[in-house]
Amino acid sequence: MELAGRHVVITGGAGGIGRALARRVAAEGVRGLVVADREHGPAHAVAEEVGGLALQFDAGLESSVSSLISHASDVYGPVDVFISNAGVPGAMGGPEAPDESWDEAWRVNFMAHVWAARALLPEMVQRGEGYLVSTASAAGLLTQVSSAVYSVTKHAAVALAEWLSIEYADAGIRVSCICPQGVLTPMLELAMQEPAGAAALAAGGLIEPEEVAEATVQGIREERFLILPHAEVAHHMALKGSDPERWLKGMRRLVRNARAAAG
Ligand SMILES: NC(=O)c1ccc[n+]([C@@H]2O[C@H](COP(=O)([O-])OP(=O)(O)OC[C@H]3O[C@@H](n4cnc5c(N)ncnc54)[C@H](O)[C@@H]3O)[C@@H](O)[C@H]2O)c1
Repeated sequence: MELAGRHVVITGGAGGIGRALARRVAAEGVRGLVVADREHGPAHAVAEEVGGLALQFDAGLESSVSSLISHASDVYGPVDVFISNAGVPGAMGGPEAPDESWDEAWRVNFMAHVWAARALLPEMVQRGEGYLVSTASAAGLLTQVSSAVYSVTKHAAVALAEWLSIEYADAGIRVSCICPQGVLTPMLELAMQEPAGAAALAAGGLIEPEEVAEATVQGIREERFLILPHAEVAHHMALKGSDPERWLKGMRRLVRNARAAAG
């Protein structure tokens, strides 16, 4: 899909990958651009810069996601492309992470995508056209060793995107899922505090949010499902699929070595 003349909503647009997406999408000559975030001040600054509209919302509440979509549609008409990008890192560690963190990440990293699809699909199907984009992560295809909360919720986001892509293709709906490894944003700073997580992220190479935005616009142009700003993620997926035991051994070794080096 070409973005020129389209109405695009970007969540989590106040900073990081979302802000880079807003800048890059604006350069395509869209008809309407909504920068949505829970942080209104920074979202407003981005919207002003790109000639868009800032809307405050909470990705963790269905009522807020559906109000965002109705408000955006009132201003610019039907949403053509919804980029569900807001996300939270979740607590470090595994099952011991507090329920509050599991719950918040489940809502923001996963249910927000369900709620957006629920609100948007009836109108998109009626028009025979629409584009759902979600920012998951390479953690949703492989894993993020520092956080089970993050890995599990991002796996769920990928699974939903796959399901929608299969089920709605014949209705004219396109779906893309953005799955980067380390991107230099405030979220990454937190993940880099844990030695094994930091080692895994550094091994994949850290890229700028602008590189994710560029890959996303190209991916949407080509209507590609999986957007992989780190190309080698495809290779890791192939290894995981063809030889999961070897992949797991490699991941265990990486974690062991990183923790031993950190003392
Ligand atoms: N940075 C990375 O290394 C990396 C890698 C892969 C995927 N991602 C994903 O990319 C997306 C963007 O992350 P980022 O790296 O730009 O991080 P970031 O922390 O810079 O940006 C996240 C944005 O989401 C907003 N947000 C968080 N919770 C919200 C809520 N409940 N309601 C509304 N807005 C909310 C924040 O205010 C912030 O503006 C996330 O989904 C993240 O999981 C990031």
